[in-house]
Formats: sequence, C-alpha cells, structure tokens
Amino acid sequence: MCMCVFILISLATSLSFASVPDNGVSDCGHRNGNYEEIKCRNGIGCIRTEHICDGTPDCPDASDELLCPFHPERDLQSNLGWNRSRRQLTCPSGQWQCKNGYCISKNRLCDQVSDCSDNSDEASPLCRKRAIATSGVCVLPPYPEQGTYDVEDIPDARPGQAHSSVVLTVRCRRGYGVMDLYGDGSGIQQVYCVNGKWYQNMPKCVRFCKLDPDPSIRYMCYTPGTGITFCRNYVSPGTVVEPACNSPIYYAKEVLRNMKCISGVWDNYAECKVECGRITPGGQPLLIGGKEAKHGELPWHAAIYRRAPEVFMQICSGSLVSNNVVISAAHCFWKDLIKLLPASQFGVAVGKLHRSWNSEEDFFAQKSNVNEIRIEKLYDGVAANFQEDIAVLILSTPFNYTTYIRPVCLDFNLNFENFQLQDGVYGKLAGWGLTSPNGPPSESLKVLSLPFINEDTCISTLPDAFRGYITGDKFCAGYTNGKCQE
Ligand SMILES: *[C@@H]1O[C@H](CO)[C@@H](O)[C@H](O)[C@H]1NC(C)=O
Ligand SMILES: *[C@@H]1O[C@H](CO)[C@@H](O)[C@H](O)[C@H]1NC(C)=O
Repeated sequence: MCMCVFILISLATSLSFASVPDNGVSDCGHRNGNYEEIKCRNGIGCIRTEHICDGTPDCPDASDELLCPFHPERDLQSNLGWNRSRRQLTCPSGQWQCKNGYCISKNRLCDQVSDCSDNSDEASPLCRKRAIATSGVCVLPPYPEQGTYDVEDIPDARPGQAHSSVVLTVRCRRGYGVMDLYGDGSGIQQVYCVNGKWYQNMPKCVRFCKLDPDPSIRYMCYTPGTGITFCRNYVSPGTVVEPACNSPIYYAKEVLRNMKCISGVWDNYAECKVECGRITPGGQPLLIGGKEAKHGELPWHAAIYRRAPEVFMQICSGSLVSNNVVISAAHCFWKDLIKLLPASQFGVAVGKLHRSWNSEEDFFAQKSNVNEIRIEKLYDGVAANFQEDIAVLILSTPFNYTTYIRPVCLDFNLNFENFQLQDGVYGKLAGWGLTSPNGPPSESLKVLSLPFINEDTCISTLPDAFRGYITGDKFCAGYTNGKCQE
C-alpha cells in the first residue's frame, strides 16, 4: 500500500518536471572513490549515478526514477500495458533496455556483470544463446581460401555448424599447402576444438612449389626449423632445395645452384643431362675381328625386331639417341613393293646381349613398341641406290636409363664431323651379324672396332658393283682387304 502512494506522488511530480531536460537531479559535485555521485532533484541527498533509473527510488523524492525510458510500475499504474509501454518508451540506439526499463549500453549486455538492477541483462535468453556460441560449442569456421576441411566423424559437416568438439583436417587445393610445423608440404593439418576452445589457429593454404620426380635429379630439402629431408612433390615457400645429378648416368655442365621456393615459384631450375656416348667403365678394350660384347660396352645399342608375324625376329640394329628415339636405317622398315612398313610390325629392345626377343639371360633389357617410323621423302630403297638410308623411330614406351642403357651423343656440328671422320680414327659397331659368309647370325652380341676410310681410298678399292652405293650421305669404315666394310 505504501508503495502505491509513493508511485502516485512520483507520477504527479513527473509532470511538473516534463520540461526539465535532465533527470531532475544535479551533480553532487564530488567523486567518492570510483563512482560518481549526483544530487537528487530536490537538493536533498546524493546518490550514485548508477542508481538512476534502476527501478528502485533512491532519492527521497524518487526523482532518480523519473523520466526514465520505461517504468513498469508507473506505467502499469497508469493502465498502460507492459508491452505497449515498452514500445512507447525505448532506449536510445546503442543502448539496451533492462526489463525494468533502465537503459544500459549494449556492450554491457551478457558481459557476465550484472548492469540492470534486476539482472535482466545477464538473465536474458540472448545471453544463454551467446554463451553457448562463445564458450560452449565449436562453431565450424569458413573454409580456408584455396582449401577445405573434413571433420572427423561428421561426414556432412559444414561451416557454421556447432558441435561440442571437433577435429578438422584442412586440405589445400593441388599446388597449395599448409605451412605446418614440418614444412613438408603434406598439405594436411589438423585443428582441434574442445567445448568451444580452439587449440590451433586455422591454417592458411599457401602456394607451394612443384618438384616433379625426375630420374636425372635427386633433391634434398632444407626447411627452416625442420632441417634436411627428402623433398616431397610440393615444397613449402622458404624451402631451399639442393639438387644433385644422378651420376654416373646424368651430369650437369656447371655446378648446380640451390633452388629456393619463393611464393610458390622456383628462383631457378636445376637441369641434369644424360651422359651420352659414355661406355660403362669396366668394359674391356675391344678387339679387332669381333668379340662378344659385355654389358655396357655399347649401352645405346638398340636391337630392332620384326613380328614375323608372331615371333619377334631381330632384323637390324639402331642407336638410342634419347629415351624414346632410335636412329636406324630406312631399308630395315622398307619393302620395295609395299614401301614403308607400318610401325606396329616392329619392336625395339635395349640392354640386350642375346639375340632372341625373350632371352631370359638379359636381366637388364627393356623393350618398347614403335609408335612411328620417319624416313626421308627421297628414300626409295634400291631404286635410288639406298640414298638417305636413315630412319628415326619414335618409341611408345620411353626407356629408363640405367648403367647399361644410355644414349649415344648426337652432334650436328660439321667441324665435329670432320674431326671424327678422318684416317686413323676408329668407330665401334655392334650387332648379331653373320659370323661367317652364309653362316647363321651369332646368338650373342658382337662388337667390332673399325677404322674410318676416306672416300677416295674406299671408292678405289671397292668392286665396281658397289661404287654406286657410296652416295654423299655415307662414309666407309673397315679394312681395305675386304674383310669388313660398311
Ligand atoms: C506482452 O506480449 C507478450 C507476447 O507478445 C505476451 O505474452 C505478454 O503477456 C504481454 N505482456 C503484457 C503485460 O501484456
Ligand atoms: C620405365 O619405368 C617405368 C616406371 O617404372 C615403367 O612403367 C616403364 O615401362 C619403363 N620403361 C620401359 C621401356 O621398360
């Protein structure tokens, strides 16, 4: 009852204060400790500023509860509905209205400190929601740029979902990776969250440098903080790669510089070339007259086979000049009536000492079909005296260089040719040629060493019938006694 009387008084007083712009209380003019005090409207007594509009009158004249944005008791008394009055009397923007009408800064809402005298700022259902969102559960973050993540045991996980605890496995797009502890470019990193607490930062996907596996080079990786490791196919920025040629098959002309991955791009590339024309060390000196070849004596020797039609017959030899190119003679792939035969009829084997295609003794052999045979347009077999008798075979399966399989050097420099093709210089010839006139071909590879013969000597010593074949694109080698000629 007493309360009702009081409210009526304050209502009446409020009308007379309507033109007063402030709350009807003036500053007490002093601070006391950490809080500010102001004087009540009637000049009697000082109250803490925080008690203004807190729903409970503190001044003797209750002036501290006047002109408050919302005053439930007062509004009820004047027959206004709670909800209606709430709509009519609102807090300025940036403020939140306590249930009792008092306005507090929105920042103080749900800050775990009671700011409204009725505690409504902390009891609000809003706070319960927010508390869950900020401390109770793990809300899945957006996917990283250039990547995505999986959530362990939650196959349909999506950003924005809330779970009590999660293990995220971040995966970056191809070419990107996570700069993780190991810097190993695995591109995978895990992030844990338990009851709303994230234990790692969400990783970023950064551009990595690609390091294609290459049989010619070995790479070692130095990553800051990790030390030296074998490199993976994708290398994180900042990694320094030390390249080394896979000797003795591959070599570099100059000392290889270290490669550095800078923002996904290599500052330079190391290149190793295959060592061409090098006989594998350990082979014995060759003897004139032909001897059985040893593995690696002529590592570029390619045996050419024709399907006839089922079994492979060795018909010619060639030289490996790159891992998928063999140079041979056009007449091996030619029939005067049919002209060039289809590539599918031929096969090539390298690393072989034994003639038969399937010889089990040739452990190091590699074989390939022929994709394409290229010959000169001018080539016309016997009709043109075997002029331009050269063929380039493109293989379907590139050979893998080994100690016993390497290419011969190819050099188009005319000076080099003049230097090589002079009296006294020997060349090597390998094959399963005839061991004696009309005899069967040898079953194991033979190697011959033959001297160059200059054209004048060659033509003057050859029987007339052969002279026509010494066209400008050929040279002679062998012995003028007629034993071995080409
Ligand atoms: C205010 O409105 C809500 C729903 O809109 C209603 O449940 C409540 O009873 C209302 N309160 C008053 C005092 O009218
Ligand atoms: C070269 O090695 C690759 C990979 O081991 C293999 O697939 C391929 O058949 C090899 N080439 C030949 C001609 O044997």
